[in-house]
Amino acid sequence: MRVAMIGTGYVGLVSGACFSDFGHEVVCVDKDRGKIDRLLDGVMPIYEPGLDSLVASNVEAGRLSFITDLKEAVPGVDAVFIAVGTPSRRGDGHADLSYVYAAAEEIAHALDGYTVIVTKSTVPVGTGAEVEKVIMKARPDLKPGVDFSVASNPEFLREGAAISDFKRPDRVVVGTEDERSREVMAELYRPLYLNETPMVFTSRATSELIKYAANALLATKITFINEMADLCEKVGADVQQVAKGIGLDNRIGKKFLHAGPGYGGSCFPKDTLALTKTAHDYGSPVRIVDAVVEANDKRKKSMAGRIIETMGGSAEGKTVAILGLTFKPNTDDMRDSPSIDIINMLQDAGARIRAHDPEGIEEAKKVLKDVTYCDGPYHAIEGADAAVIVTEWDAYRALDLSRMKEMMKEPVLVDLRNVYRPEKVREAGFTYRSIGRA
Ligand code: UDX
Repeated sequence: MRVAMIGTGYVGLVSGACFSDFGHEVVCVDKDRGKIDRLLDGVMPIYEPGLDSLVASNVEAGRLSFITDLKEAVPGVDAVFIAVGTPSRRGDGHADLSYVYAAAEEIAHALDGYTVIVTKSTVPVGTGAEVEKVIMKARPDLKPGVDFSVASNPEFLREGAAISDFKRPDRVVVGTEDERSREVMAELYRPLYLNETPMVFTSRATSELIKYAANALLATKITFINEMADLCEKVGADVQQVAKGIGLDNRIGKKFLHAGPGYGGSCFPKDTLALTKTAHDYGSPVRIVDAVVEANDKRKKSMAGRIIETMGGSAEGKTVAILGLTFKPNTDDMRDSPSIDIINMLQDAGARIRAHDPEGIEEAKKVLKDVTYCDGPYHAIEGADAAVIVTEWDAYRALDLSRMKEMMKEPVLVDLRNVYRPEKVREAGFTYRSIGRA
């Protein structure tokens, strides 16, 4: 089949590359000339394990191409995916759909035969219907269901595991309003039937809501265990054991129960906020998600206080080594990373920051000021009054504690991801603080 993918961000680029790897002919479109030129040279705009070789092999096989002109990409394709950004709108927290509608209008003008227009970006309920209206306004000669259809196909991939998540998903969700587009979507995903991926075919609005409901529930699970962690610290319990003890109940499930500094990234913060806005607009608030948004914001901000407390109550004139800047490992993404609040607040309290991250330093430079970036974890901790593990990169999982102790000014380790066993670190002579473990 032939596919056009509009937008070469995380979702667009990974989906485009994976569809082409399934054997479809895919053209990826992005207005950013520089980005397309770099992709043509094999330079990926994001760090995602395995993506560069996947792109290279499919470009070489002639199934994957990159262009800037949408008008050239759309004619003759079976499906056009809209995978442009839907950032939080400044001021009100609603998803900003201007890029989605602009793409829809441009697509409308390029349509030359029956095509399915698919929203892959995370969009609020009702966006598919709006996209249909935009197309009808731009092309009054076209009839929905006859000349074109608008479908919803949210993406659930995680950064850092994006390719395997796309190729071996827990499920694929497709929302359509007519049989013809349902058949096109079924054919596109047919390669996944081989590994018996469950397909959820539903209405467009339901599909749109499934994406928000999934992300909000996952964010709720994380926030729940984070608050349990705080309670564990007060009552002298261990959150890791609590997570294990509840997670073994199949009705709860053990994933997304890892307590930490609060969730970040390109999806959870923006999508939970957008869901609360939609719910309030419809007069049907999802109060639990309101609470999750508030609790997570507060949590990220409270982490600096925890670090300062562990250093003895003051950060003034002290040097803090931050290990891990990205919102999670195996990505260079800094969006809404807990490290941002932590570093800003430590700096406000008078601390100097030395930082290391295996992939995120270039992105970090765009959002942080006055940070000394280091080549490795040991370089970062040199002379520091405290080391803080903010992101659980593999590089920080087996640090040589005695070497660290010799290099640091004060042996203080704050482990916001519970990477280490408290007794081991204390035995090594450190003041150690983790999350939810007394
Ligand atoms: C998420 C969803 O998992 C994915 O389905 C959706 O398509 C996009 O949003 P992603 O943002 O890539 O994916 O990362 P994820 O691994 O889900 O982690 C999100 C945040 O939650 C990170 O900050 C992570 O550190 C945090 N997290 C996750 C926890 O604090 N504890 C956990 O147990 C799991």
